[in-house]
Amino acid sequence: MALWGGRFSQEADQRFKQFNDSLRFDFRLAQQDIFGSVAWSKALVTVGVLSQDEQAQLEQALNELSEEVTANPHSILILQSDAEDIHSWVESKLIAKVGDLGKKLHTGRSRNDQVATDLKLWCKEEVIHLRQAIVELQKALVITAEQNQNAVMPGYTHLQRAQPVTFAHWCLAYNEMLARDESRLADALKRLDVSPLGCGALAGTAYDIDREQLAGWLGFASATNNSLDSVSDRDHVLEILSSAAIGMVHLSRFAEDLIFFNSGEAGFIELSDKVTSGSSLMPQKKNPDALELIRGKCGRVQGALTGMMMTLKGLPLAYNKDMQEDKEGLFDAVDTWSDCLHMATLVLDGIQIRRPRCEEAAKQGYANATELADYLVAKGVPFREAHHIVGEVVVCAIEQGKAIEELPLSELQMFNSKIMIDVYDILSLQSCLDKRLAKGGVSQKQVAYAIAKAKEVLDMNK
Ligand code: ARG
Repeated sequence: MALWGGRFSQEADQRFKQFNDSLRFDFRLAQQDIFGSVAWSKALVTVGVLSQDEQAQLEQALNELSEEVTANPHSILILQSDAEDIHSWVESKLIAKVGDLGKKLHTGRSRNDQVATDLKLWCKEEVIHLRQAIVELQKALVITAEQNQNAVMPGYTHLQRAQPVTFAHWCLAYNEMLARDESRLADALKRLDVSPLGCGALAGTAYDIDREQLAGWLGFASATNNSLDSVSDRDHVLEILSSAAIGMVHLSRFAEDLIFFNSGEAGFIELSDKVTSGSSLMPQKKNPDALELIRGKCGRVQGALTGMMMTLKGLPLAYNKDMQEDKEGLFDAVDTWSDCLHMATLVLDGIQIRRPRCEEAAKQGYANATELADYLVAKGVPFREAHHIVGEVVVCAIEQGKAIEELPLSELQMFNSKIMIDVYDILSLQSCLDKRLAKGGVSQKQVAYAIAKAKEVLDMNK
């Protein structure tokens, strides 16, 4: 029986019931709903609705129910029920356990403040898990960076070899993105850590409950200020979805870079057998499926964010059933982000860098052309002019199928007489790297500093 049967004389059409019910996905809020119910029962004692003894009975029954759910989280018990949603399910189970006393629990409460509270409690827990998963991936990146400080490879702009970098520097770039992702979640947490419980359906509860005390029992930092806002606010869903959307964009770029590095054309890395699969037809293939799926799954997370934005757009205050649409997209986006973070960590675990191949590629593509321009600048040639001269040198080298450093000094001097024998030192890969000494650059010193700093922040020095 539905919670609201009294006003109705006709049974709901089964097709409508299936369309309307949310238990098949909101069963994931079972523990939060039970936890919130225990706190609410305590609040009802403070306003004389329940006696201490009655509250103790309810709390015991709710704790039992919580244990049953823990033992079987994807409980068939839950899914076989025809309860409309998780709130109705918990209430009906409670009534089955303690009889009429269970019917007192919903006094002064509405499913509107209840669902808002449950979902915020769920978000708070998930934020902890997601932040841990991000930090694990950051640690894997820093370890990979530490092991590959001397692994020189081409850096790209426009997917054209631009200047040499190191694999370590590449790893640390993603570490920065992940640090921002983590801080976005930490920031979202500050705003969502406010309890809506005790706001009733929309206008506030008619019982004089100390909502700050209730918020404290639930582990929230404080209680919300406005009841209309509290039951209709889903900013936390949007903020977590935005964080997930940005985080997945980062992971998709990470995946794409590695897919390219792993390609036959680049051949910079070799992925572990643990995260690749074969082709059913072509025996030679070893496909980077884990990375392709990370890249591909980015789409559904962007979809969840856009979907929720559109659902909330133009919704009148306060609660509307449209808002039940908040859960499936959020659950899927959080699961997807978390899975992809774990998978990215696994990919790094067995990665091999083919250093000779990386170095060879870094030497090609005239990645040291900027060095020659800087050399001329040091000899007093204005940069714009130096840029032009080096452009001509590169054309000449390309025509001969040579690298700049393979051109004899006499030939280089035809482009500018200030070029001397010391030019060959500055054209070396090592010199290209070493010169990037300013903060954030690819010089060995800066990369070592960045690794040390990251290890400190991530608490890796134990
Ligand atoms: N299943 C609903 C949801 O997820 C719970 C709140 C229902 N409230 C109501 N007034 N029908 O949004």
